[in-house]
Amino acid sequence: MLLGRRPERIRLDGLLAGARASHSQVLVVRGEPGVGKSALLSWAARQVAPARCLRAAGVESEVDLPFAVLHQMFLPGE
Ligand SMILES: Nc1ncnc2c1ncn2[C@@H]1O[C@H](COP(=O)(O)OP(=O)(O)O)[C@@H](O)[C@H]1O
Ligand SMILES: [Mg+2]
Repeated sequence: MLLGRRPERIRLDGLLAGARASHSQVLVVRGEPGVGKSALLSWAARQVAPARCLRAAGVESEVDLPFAVLHQMFLPGE
């Protein structure tokens, strides 16, 4: 359960509404480790139903691998 973060949730709700209207957007979520970025994004991912949410995470050790994020999203089991 996500506690608080009302301004951030309102911002993400707006972004998701845009996505439902086929407007692509980018939002950068920044903050110190442990501040709640992943929790906020998990909340946002739960709001997209019945649409599907694809998630991927950048890993520093994969910085030289081309298309590593695309592999995460579209090659399940890889
Ligand atoms: N708003 C919140 N409500 C409830 N739990 C939270 C909230 N923000 C962070 N947490 C919890 O605090 C911990 C660290 O949050 P996390 O999202 O992993 O931080 P970050 O991704 O910024 O490093 C996690 O256990 C997460 O569930
Ligand atoms: Mg995180």
